[in-house]
Amino acid sequence: MLQQPIQDRLPLRIILLGFMGSGKSTMGPMIANAIGYRFIDLDMEIEQRHDTTIGSVFNELGESGFRAIESAELRRVFRRERTVLSTGGGIVTLAENRRLIKDLGFSVYLKLSPVELAERLEGSKDRPMLFGEDGGTLSGNALVERVEQLTSLRSVHYESADLVVDLGRDPGVDPVSAAADHVVRAIHASAKRSI
Ligand code: S3P
Repeated sequence: MLQQPIQDRLPLRIILLGFMGSGKSTMGPMIANAIGYRFIDLDMEIEQRHDTTIGSVFNELGESGFRAIESAELRRVFRRERTVLSTGGGIVTLAENRRLIKDLGFSVYLKLSPVELAERLEGSKDRPMLFGEDGGTLSGNALVERVEQLTSLRSVHYESADLVVDLGRDPGVDPVSAAADHVVRAIHASAKRSI
């Protein structure tokens, strides 16, 4: 029997999971490009379709309001095939999102330690989940503590992704493109295993 080309054996939808700062939005287009898929960034879809910013949604509706919009948007974009979807780090907090992701796609967790994440997130001003009580962005130890607190709640869900890629272990020469290559190789390897 003729072997199907590897391209035809790839999952129809690849969902990038991981904490804020793990590189989902940066690596997503590279991964999509490498396998000839379209790229969708869920947060950008929310901002464009609602003509707003994630910060304004949190300001006006709080975290629960944002989660409702995020879930609705996930359901909306999800039927599209041959897509790499980058999700917000908190997508795994709702059971209905986790179910949808399991049912319809192949999930890839881009894993980094809380300390590595906090280093990358230092100075980030547009992430409401990292704001302190005074509304300012957390930094230093307070930022590490917030990242640890949130990852301790979310890790169990990230870890149940179809593929876990530990980015901290294999930074490579150019961290971003090397990491994206690494993820593409891991997706191909998993597609081979699943035939
Ligand atoms: C969030 C992550 C953000 C964005 C929102 C909430 C979170 O996306 O969806 O600020 O709860 O972790 P990124 O992971 O792309 O930063």
